[in-house]
Amino acid sequence: MIPAQPPTTTGLPAGLVGRKVAGYRLEGEIGRGGMAVVYRAKDLRLGRTVAVKLLAPELARNEVFRQRFMHESEAAAAIDHPHIIPVFEAGEHDGILYLAMRYVEGGDLRGLMNRAGPLPVERAARLALQIASALDAAHDHDLVHRDVKPGNVLVAAGTDSEHPEHLYLADFGLTKKSLSLSGLTSVGQIVGTLDYAAPEQISGKPLDGRCDQYSLGCVVFEMLAGAPPFRRESDLALLWAHLNDPPPLLSEHRPDLPSAVAAVVSRALAKVSGERYASCLQFVAELRAAIVPAPWAGGGPPTQVVPVVDPGLLRVPEPPAWAVSAVHPPPRN
Ligand SMILES: Nc1ncnc2c1ncn2[C@@H]1O[C@H](COP(=O)(O)OP(=O)(O)O)[C@@H](O)[C@H]1O
Ligand SMILES: [Mg+2]
Repeated sequence: MIPAQPPTTTGLPAGLVGRKVAGYRLEGEIGRGGMAVVYRAKDLRLGRTVAVKLLAPELARNEVFRQRFMHESEAAAAIDHPHIIPVFEAGEHDGILYLAMRYVEGGDLRGLMNRAGPLPVERAARLALQIASALDAAHDHDLVHRDVKPGNVLVAAGTDSEHPEHLYLADFGLTKKSLSLSGLTSVGQIVGTLDYAAPEQISGKPLDGRCDQYSLGCVVFEMLAGAPPFRRESDLALLWAHLNDPPPLLSEHRPDLPSAVAAVVSRALAKVSGERYASCLQFVAELRAAIVPAPWAGGGPPTQVVPVVDPGLLRVPEPPAWAVSAVHPPPRN
């Protein structure tokens, strides 16, 4: 039973660390957004550490939101993709909706950018590729994320020096659209940033995967420029800018990058979704191609590729006689 305590900005009682919620013991607060608090927790059935997200109580009271949350949590859990956060359970406990998922130790992309500042373009493209693959997988399942932003991209340690970080996309079903559909009036207050919202989301048009591509475009812009494309004094001015202002040129922030990189990012940020790339992975493929222009891109003939390995080393030596006879035994009489 969760005791009544003074509500915090999320409406959740303070001081839940140490409490048991639906088979999880909350061990420490990891962070909080506008409508939820995330805890590091112990799954008491399996003894493993997980992350448990508790949603603001007013969300559970809204039937449309609750149904959508459960539905989209299930849909996201069913995708089973290496870059989508594994969701273990979604449910309700004492009138509070919760989500148990893999605990990711390395923080999120917001923290990474705050620490590292504008990233080398190769690293930004490598990170974008992981997010794009998660998004395209979701889109293939008819699921549009709608809230792609650095805080929803979790950063785990990678496997080796060539893959130094492994990203997870989190928070399907916890979107502005879910909230506005459910008719909550305080949407403006409890939804966080508008820095990554696509024009068609703002104008309430039907959405498809290309709205996530726009948001990914904003994230890529920020990874390279150090700030998202539009910064305005008020939310209203920011919404107006997404709808009407041409995105600033990336080349003004990063004159070191090939101009083709800026052109690729601008296309992902097109106001009209039909002018963007066909998929998020295509966007990132174009980004990577723009980093290292093909040697014949200038119109000249392809340059000859010099072999890295001495061809003499590639000659296969004759196998020893015993190996030949083992594979091709002499015919028996
Ligand atoms: N599975 C997880 N493992 C570790 N940290 C997480 C996990 N899910 C969310 N977080 C962190 O918890 C914090 C709050 O998350 P959230 O409530 O979704 O807010 P927002 O997405 O608006 O930042 C974020 O800083 C996020 O990085
Ligand atoms: Mg989040």
